Amino acid sequence: MPDRQYLVAANWKMNGSLESAKSLVIGIKQGLAGNNNAEVAICPPFIYLPEISGFLSDTSISLGAQNVSHLENGAYTGEISSVMLTDFACRYVIVGHSERRNLYHESDSRVAEKFIAAQAQGLIPILCVGELLEERETNTTEDVIARQLDVVIDKAGISAFANAVIAYEPVWAIGTGKTATPEQAQEVHEFIRLRLARHDNEIANGIRILYGGSVKADNAEQLFKMADIDGGLIGGASLIADDFLTICRAVR
Ligand code: 13P
Repeated sequence: MPDRQYLVAANWKMNGSLESAKSLVIGIKQGLAGNNNAEVAICPPFIYLPEISGFLSDTSISLGAQNVSHLENGAYTGEISSVMLTDFACRYVIVGHSERRNLYHESDSRVAEKFIAAQAQGLIPILCVGELLEERETNTTEDVIARQLDVVIDKAGISAFANAVIAYEPVWAIGTGKTATPEQAQEVHEFIRLRLARHDNEIANGIRILYGGSVKADNAEQLFKMADIDGGLIGGASLIADDFLTICRAVR
């Protein structure tokens, strides 16, 4: 069994205030002190990165962003570049979250460009893939995941996946309280790993594949026990320190 360190990442999305962000990070930091098997990352809204970065500097908790521009710099109002993220000690950046794909119309190829732009500055992309409810119901889950992955493999090259994380997030499970069963999630995680193994077995075995979609304190352990689930990308439950800490401690 390859030695993949678990990663539990908090995606705070567009929630909270400066005050609540500070008290949440303090709660997580105190709760994790000393004992932790998983690597933990926090992805706050862009504007709180400098403040949160300060709180994490004396910890092993990693910082991540929720999105990044595919471009380096220039007249792109409202965008944030990879270089800017590295100024605040970001290690990770989420790319291709389904909310970006579906609400902001980010195409597969735009997601691949973001993945490449992030890596160009040494950031580790957390590439999100996942099917819509109607895609699952019409048995096209694997086609969708394959398409989302293949565009990035084609554009970035398989070797780029040596420095990346994948998150499988079925869209029907996000924020709905309807978690994929451990078996349903495992099936897709295994599919993802095999898809990468077509190109490079070692990279496929080494990459961490996180599950996201209504992971809670009471279901994390069952999910994390599955062979190809290497941690989680946590939305709602990452906004409550105790719940997030319970999820972090649910790793093997
Ligand atoms: P929830 O945990 O709120 O379902 O969100 C999952 C997610 O989208 C994490 O990126």
